[in-house]
Amino acid sequence: MRLDAGYALAVATLHHQGGFARGWEPAECAALIADSAVAADGVFNGGSSHPDGFVISRKAADEAEILSIVVASARRRDGFGRALLAAHLARLAEQGANRVFLEVEEGNVAAERLYRHFGFREVGRRKGYYPKPDGTRATAIAMRLDLA
Ligand SMILES: CC(C)(COP(=O)(O)OP(=O)(O)OC[C@H]1O[C@@H](n2cnc3c(N)ncnc32)[C@H](O)[C@@H]1OP(=O)(O)O)[C@@H](O)C(=O)NCCC(=O)NCCS
Repeated sequence: MRLDAGYALAVATLHHQGGFARGWEPAECAALIADSAVAADGVFNGGSSHPDGFVISRKAADEAEILSIVVASARRRDGFGRALLAAHLARLAEQGANRVFLEVEEGNVAAERLYRHFGFREVGRRKGYYPKPDGTRATAIAMRLDLA
């Protein structure tokens, strides 16, 4: 389901559960979601009005880049990530995206597996891309999916 800027706080809260070195603040999430080039989707459990996960992409011409995807810590490994990404990729395709790009930290097995499930393949590596909380830097794996 599409998320509007009213979900900015929920998105920021979920993003903080993602374990990223730099968290997103609610105002930043609101600005992102309100951007017409951005597509944001949430996954909801049963009739809940509170998302258990979100995914956000930025579109440019016929390409899109997944900026972040997070499922609530307590809801992981239950298919929410897959459901979220399936709906999101369908929407991106509907909106004219032919290629989708993303970066994932080397060693993030869950995310890499999720992306490979949808056919994303590795197209490059960027050493030292991600700052880690312990001061070291991790390699990013760049991935691409052709939708058309
Ligand atoms: C990545 C993430 C969104 C996956 O969400 P999820 O709801 O747990 O994923 P699903 O239950 O739909 O599982 C999707 C696939 O990942 C695999 N997977 C999920 N968690 C895993 C884990 N801890 N270890 C190994 N594989 C895992 C599943 O087996 C499944 O694989 P398959 O499609 O080959 O069967 C979730 O782990 C998360 O929020 N992580 C923290 C944030 C993050 O790293 N985001 C990605 C940044 S690039």
